[in-house]
Amino acid sequence: MSKRTFRGARVLLTGASSGIGRELALELARRGASLCVLARREDPLRALVGEMNAVRAEAFPAAPEHFCVVGDVCSSDVREQAVAETIGRFQGLDVLINNAGAGATLPAEETADDLACELFDLNFFSPFELTKTALPELKASASSRENKRRRVRPLVINFSSIAGVRGTPYFAVYGAAKAALLVLTDAWRAEINASGVDFLIVTPGLTSSQFFNVLREDKRRPKLPTLKWAEPKDVAIAVLSAAERGKRRIVPSSPSAKLLGWCSRFCPSLVDRVMNRFAK
Ligand SMILES: NC(=O)c1ccc[n+]([C@@H]2O[C@H](COP(=O)([O-])OP(=O)(O)OC[C@H]3O[C@@H](n4cnc5c(N)ncnc54)[C@H](OP(=O)(O)O)[C@@H]3O)[C@@H](O)[C@H]2O)c1
Repeated sequence: MSKRTFRGARVLLTGASSGIGRELALELARRGASLCVLARREDPLRALVGEMNAVRAEAFPAAPEHFCVVGDVCSSDVREQAVAETIGRFQGLDVLINNAGAGATLPAEETADDLACELFDLNFFSPFELTKTALPELKASASSRENKRRRVRPLVINFSSIAGVRGTPYFAVYGAAKAALLVLTDAWRAEINASGVDFLIVTPGLTSSQFFNVLREDKRRPKLPTLKWAEPKDVAIAVLSAAERGKRRIVPSSPSAKLLGWCSRFCPSLVDRVMNRFAK
């Protein structure tokens, strides 16, 4: 992966109306990127675009205005509209951030097929399809001489989860969708290595966003220990700094999630015992 700058980069970011996505949008605007932000809730999205454009007017008055597409990322029409409008307004696309996502907490055996499909649709198929739609433009961005000179390098950032690294009780199907996205990302990076398009996979731990207030189903939660939750702003800054340094994978701002990832690899039976406790 290459080192890069976000100044002057043209970015499409999903799930920007709250939490980590909102903080990513504001940080990117402060760094001089031009953004199309996408989510379903119109009011918070338009308020965010107003904030970002105030930053732009003050610090980067020559840059194009940020804008939003309001809609469901699970709709192919919305995904195509977002890519087409970004290219139309910014004359190209350099960075795609697949951040939109939602979970559900319930036992695997009680998960209805419809809910499982919904979780995979949002957390796996939407980023998969959106990336395929954006890829021709990202490849074009890689071959642009002007981009090379300015160190703007094409990148896809995919949001998985620590629940996609290690299966966590009552997050089974959500975690499976996030694991699928992680594997897809690592394979895709190798497949198109020569094209100049990079992939960064993000596996956050517990983060104080709206995530747990908007679960698609909330029947039974794991008994998690009292841990310090990461702040969305810290996660956003850690992700962008990892992208700037050319990292492939990051567990942002969560020592406990980092420890879980490490222990899952090197002492899985210990983690099994911990997970059995979470399930009680
Ligand atoms: N918070 C955590 O503890 C945690 C841990 C691991 C991984 N993650 C992952 O991190 C990412 C960001 O989550 P967050 O913590 O910032 O949660 P959040 O505050 O709930 O934000 C989720 C964002 O996704 C958008 N979204 C959800 N469904 C959508 C849809 N169908 N179409 C378009 N946008 C949609 C939401 O906007 P609208 O509702 O307006 O559409 C919102 O902007 C997600 O992928 C999540 O799975 C979070």
